[in-house]
Amino acid sequence: MQSENNTKTECLLKIMRISELTNWGVCPNDIALQIESLMKEHGEGFLNMMTATEILESRKRFYVALMIGEEVELTGSIALDMFTSEITSLCVNPKWRKHGIGKQLVQFALHVLSTRFEDSFVWIRENNTVAKTFFLNLGFIEDKHEEESIKMMIVGCE
Ligand SMILES: CC(C)(COP(=O)(O)OP(=O)(O)OC[C@H]1O[C@@H](n2cnc3c(N)ncnc32)[C@H](O)[C@@H]1OP(=O)(O)O)[C@@H](O)C(=O)NCCC(=O)NCCS
Repeated sequence: MQSENNTKTECLLKIMRISELTNWGVCPNDIALQIESLMKEHGEGFLNMMTATEILESRKRFYVALMIGEEVELTGSIALDMFTSEITSLCVNPKWRKHGIGKQLVQFALHVLSTRFEDSFVWIRENNTVAKTFFLNLGFIEDKHEEESIKMMIVGCE
């Protein structure tokens, strides 16, 4: 588990697997439901939409960023495919955007993937300009376009 001090919010941001949530007294089912609605409502046309049940079934490859203050709050989530090195989903709660949380989630994911892979990739919607800028700024490059999607690659996971 990795932890970060978020200086902008002065709260403790912890990134962990869904399967580790019980150690923090947080119910994985509640978090899976929150991720499902986050994806549906704020996923900008997610390519890999999942239900809470599917998220729980994939709990080993889902990581969440929790803001630990007086209460524990879900700020965002990221999912990885440990067989292909793909970032299959990433979403930050609009309330917490532009606080560096998406960047920390991707850096955390790339660190996890670097144990097995040298490269990583993510598919985004062609019209998702925020995500495109976000990944370009993290060092990803445009690899290929298919239908209305772009595959973005990073060479060297760390
Ligand atoms: C894309 C997304 C994950 C970014 O999360 P975030 O926590 O707001 O991003 P960060 O605060 O870590 O931003 C990191 C960098 O990305 C860029 N960025 C982030 N949001 C941006 C915006 N709205 N406009 C332009 N650049 C932006 C900036 O360069 C920023 O660096 P800076 O703060 O030093 O300028 C978030 O907007 C989101 O959840 N979008 C909906 C879901 C989605 O599109 N997922 C990606 C496809 S799977």
